[in-house]
Amino acid sequence: MNAPAHQPATTSHAWSAPEVCVVVPTFNESANVHALVAQLEAALAGVAWEVVFVDDDSPDHTFAQAWQLSQTNPRVRCLRRVGRRGLATACIEGMLATAAPYLAVMDGDLQHDETRLPLMLQALRDQDLDLVVGSRYTEGGSLGQWSSDRIRTSRVATALAQRVLRAPLHDPMSGFFMLRREVLDRVVHRLSGMGFKILLDIVASSPTPLRIQEVPFEFRPRQAGQSKLDERVIYEFLLLLADKTVGRFVPTRLVSFAAVGGLGVGVHLAVLSTLLAGFGAAFAVAQTAAVVVSMMFNFFVNNTLTYQDKKLTGWALIPGLLKFMAACALGASANVGVASYLYADWGNWLGSGLAGIVVGLFWNYSVTSMLVWSGRNRA
Ligand code: GDD
Ligand code: MN
Repeated sequence: MNAPAHQPATTSHAWSAPEVCVVVPTFNESANVHALVAQLEAALAGVAWEVVFVDDDSPDHTFAQAWQLSQTNPRVRCLRRVGRRGLATACIEGMLATAAPYLAVMDGDLQHDETRLPLMLQALRDQDLDLVVGSRYTEGGSLGQWSSDRIRTSRVATALAQRVLRAPLHDPMSGFFMLRREVLDRVVHRLSGMGFKILLDIVASSPTPLRIQEVPFEFRPRQAGQSKLDERVIYEFLLLLADKTVGRFVPTRLVSFAAVGGLGVGVHLAVLSTLLAGFGAAFAVAQTAAVVVSMMFNFFVNNTLTYQDKKLTGWALIPGLLKFMAACALGASANVGVASYLYADWGNWLGSGLAGIVVGLFWNYSVTSMLVWSGRNRA
């Protein structure tokens, strides 16, 4: 009897896992998949490699391009995630989906220089290293044709990241690197998985300093498709830094919620002073208006930043806003109650006021997280 068609020609013990797996996160990169695989074929000739595309159910069906290649090329695999978004988690899950001892991460838009991969692999094989990073900031590396605005943003972010890391890494924001799988195994439970900066996450999560080498490369301009880097990504980067520094003690969402609340105080005071000075409104009227406006401000900003993964849209905004305002009104009365009680006993206005704020903050944060943003994650 003939063997079923799907069985490999070799016996199972003759099979060996690839030595290196290139994990490629994708979102709307269908025009780049074929070209990328062709480039990897050329660059990694002579190496046992595979590529795992991790596609977040792209509207342009990037996953279908990868699957088409998989029909005839066993080196190409694709993990299609549904109802999920996120560059960092895509990289983590792709790395966990392979048996290869060396794991590379690389963008799917041809901006990273695949011809560096053999060099990175060689460095890991031959030297006592944990991680090799494709760097734009070491001698010989470059940002290619970036706008001066983006160069400036990238420099500031890099400097911030270096402070958090305390590791001698010139380009902690790089999305192009290769590591030993034991490194991932050691850090995987500590990863934050937020946003774009998976390398930063890995290095900052390692309990012991990693042995790192940087390999320069030139960042190429994007040919097809669009960058997904926007303001949200920058905010997620700040949250990742917060998580990697104070995250062990305070939940990152609470830090974000408190920061937005701080801005809300500014909004409150601006409305109050404008109504009083500009419109001669009665104090109670002006204060009420300021409360309403700053609550709305807090709701919308938290909805887009703090809870971007659970963001309410369309009609759901109305009950969301009403519940938020009701919860915060109770939080405000708890704030006033606690502060007045302490003040009566203690007489310290600053301490009593701050204690009231902390109680109000915890109340608002916990109640709104349960009532307003308890839904399932958005894709
Ligand atoms: N699965 C998945 N999910 N992939 C994503 C997502 C997502 O939510 N968002 C972006 N990607 C994929 C893109 O399709 C691309 O293959 C890769 O991640 C990088 O995304 P770009 O949108 O092209 O990012 P960039 O070029 O602006 O930023 C690059 O350079 C930065 C350095 O400044 C990336 O390499 C960043 O990681 C890097 O920090
Ligand atoms: Mn890109």
